[in-house]
Amino acid sequence: MDIVVENVTKHFGRRKAIDAISFNVKRGESVGLWGPGGSGKSTTMKILAGILSPDHGNVTFNNEHPAKLKHNIGYMAEHNPVYENMNVVDFLLLSGELHGVRQATARIANIVHLCGLEEEKHKNTGELSRGCRQRLGIAQALVHDPDVLILDEPTTGLDPKQIAKIREIIRVIGKGKTVIIGSHLIAEIETTCGRVVIMNEGKIVASKNVAELRDASDKNTRLKLSIKGGDRRQVKEALGNLPGIHRVTEIENHCLELTCESDVKSAIFDMCQREHWYIAELTPVPARPEDIFQHVTRK
Ligand SMILES: Nc1ncnc2c1ncn2[C@@H]1O[C@H](COP(=O)(O)OP(=O)(O)O)[C@@H](O)[C@H]1O
Ligand SMILES: [Mg+2]
Repeated sequence: MDIVVENVTKHFGRRKAIDAISFNVKRGESVGLWGPGGSGKSTTMKILAGILSPDHGNVTFNNEHPAKLKHNIGYMAEHNPVYENMNVVDFLLLSGELHGVRQATARIANIVHLCGLEEEKHKNTGELSRGCRQRLGIAQALVHDPDVLILDEPTTGLDPKQIAKIREIIRVIGKGKTVIIGSHLIAEIETTCGRVVIMNEGKIVASKNVAELRDASDKNTRLKLSIKGGDRRQVKEALGNLPGIHRVTEIENHCLELTCESDVKSAIFDMCQREHWYIAELTPVPARPEDIFQHVTRK
């Protein structure tokens, strides 16, 4: 479904949680909402899921109000609350019934398999590990086979193995669905989404294709550099004097980290030739999430 968010504002008391945000999601697209804690991601997703109403503005799914299309939206809340004292299959059956799905046994067997809950299916939901509980949350969001899937912080707090499992599940089930994922972790969004909408203090500060995200901070590239054949202090000073190099810091293994513009390499090479030094290592350092965030929010 095509989702259109227009000028949506939401207050909690006097606190403005989201402030006149607008964005679109096309059918079949997977979009991540990224931003620090308190930036309004969860509130936005609750409004999309039809759980909260905006104070101002509009949300439509194929031109309809989300409350009318709840049967076509799957939502997993942050921390994924579940009914305890119920086994996994019964919980999914109940979730299905709440969406008006009857005789969902075959469908649930399929979802249990898809979400890797085979071994846990007769366990009490309260006994599940965090990772399994998150997978149950995804299963619950899928039970009525919605076109739109909204997942709030699906892997936060999980160990790397569990994270990999959940990301794989999202990739598989996301095919053919419109997926919205909220996370404060950029890696989460880079691995599962095609586009990222970046939020800060209740506002949308950028919307980018995930592939372009790391190019954004090109003006402030980081390079890991090791120069041999000269005095360390001298090398550091000479680098600091080159145009385009903003900062030189010593890091592990006698290497230096440069914060610099992306076109400084030939100047470094010329300098080494002049001084009879040589480059033992010169590698790009991937942009850190905080650098990317700073870059896109600076404007
Ligand atoms: N139910 C609520 N009552 C009061 N304030 C809330 C409530 N939910 C969220 N907020 C506030 O709204 C802002 C945005 O919160 P939230 O949407 O949860 O952000 P995020 O998911 O990005 O961490 C925060 O300042 C938060 O404290
Ligand atoms: Mg949140």
